[in-house]
Amino acid sequence: MSEKQPLLQPIKLGDIQLKNRVVMAPLTRCRATNEFQAPDEKHIDYYTQRAGAGLIITEGSSVSSKAIGNPFVAGIYKEEQVEGWKKVVDSVHKADGKIFLQLWHVGRTSLPDYHDGQLPWAPSAVDPKVELRNAHGEKKMTVAPHAMTVEEVEQTVREFGHAAANAKRAGFDGVEIHSSNGYLIHQFFNNISNVRTDQYGGSNENKARFFFEILEAVKESFPENKIGCRLNPSLNGVFGMNGTPDSIPFFDYLVNRLNDHDLAYIHMSEPFTDVSNINFLESDIARHFRPIYKGNLMINNQFDRESGNQVIKEANADLVAFGKLFISNPDLPHRFELKAETADWNVETFYTQGREGYTDYPTLEEEKVKN
Ligand SMILES: Cc1cc2nc3c(=O)[nH]c(=O)nc-3n(C[C@H](O)[C@H](O)[C@H](O)COP(=O)(O)O)c2cc1C
Repeated sequence: MSEKQPLLQPIKLGDIQLKNRVVMAPLTRCRATNEFQAPDEKHIDYYTQRAGAGLIITEGSSVSSKAIGNPFVAGIYKEEQVEGWKKVVDSVHKADGKIFLQLWHVGRTSLPDYHDGQLPWAPSAVDPKVELRNAHGEKKMTVAPHAMTVEEVEQTVREFGHAAANAKRAGFDGVEIHSSNGYLIHQFFNNISNVRTDQYGGSNENKARFFFEILEAVKESFPENKIGCRLNPSLNGVFGMNGTPDSIPFFDYLVNRLNDHDLAYIHMSEPFTDVSNINFLESDIARHFRPIYKGNLMINNQFDRESGNQVIKEANADLVAFGKLFISNPDLPHRFELKAETADWNVETFYTQGREGYTDYPTLEEEKVKN
């Protein structure tokens, strides 16, 4: 019998046994259209269809109303949301899947429209200067956010803790702290978005403080080996975030410190844009961070079956997260196993509402029946 492809080999995250290393990346899909912004029947079907993944990481789920910067995101701070997620989790578990919830706060990457006209919160009053859509689909430019007071920082840490407790009650196998892609925690990491002079700004230790306080708050509900975190060290020119000469040294520091914690994994992204001509940013994230991090390293961004197998085979990562391929291929690991064709995704329905482009992508078998 031929040996299984590296992506299809099982792996243990702490005491959680995954059937393969094909992870469904977190994907905001804007389908929570009910008055509570809670997951509903559509979400149950969508996630259950994808339970063949070794691990599903849910869409970023708002930890509070202040965390919102996109319409129709299924949050995790209201009781109805916990109940909605519980049904999703139960169904994924019945289908033999494992599922982590991604804890999300967008910080300054939001509009006053989402906050009754009040300013979004961020480490400092630095406008990311990006165009966003409000809940009515209107495009608007961001504004300079409100610089959080220490009390507001502490409140936000508690909100992450409360959200994690809710995730625990909903039955999730674990949580991923969204500390990347230019959102609130990443805004604390970066020297352009964080110009604070108190204990949350300046030195590496200070810039990491908010993250580690959140980690402690989340640990009140989950042991470390059921907590992951997401990092995007070379993010540049997207979501209003740019790298600086301090970025990679900061992430080296952070990842080194994470070696003292027994996390389920660190989820890293290769650069979202070409940074090969920026000498202070790192073009090959897996290769750079693999020797530094001693735990499970999950890698993402534009991988396919071949490059995913390759990165694991070369021991530069332990797991691979697939985003867009999982949108259009609910049975992605099965297709990998058969070395079958994968279906293309439709960008037009990434963020629309309803089931179109959400639960109607066929599996290979369903495709065959159709043809
Ligand atoms: C529609 C869409 C929604 C996304 N939403 C999230 C999100 O909620 N949280 C997150 O961390 N990343 C999010 N991402 C980024 C993906 O997790 C992933 O990093 C990106 O799609 C690149 O991986 P891929 O090339 O395999 O698609 C999103 C990407 C897309 C295309």
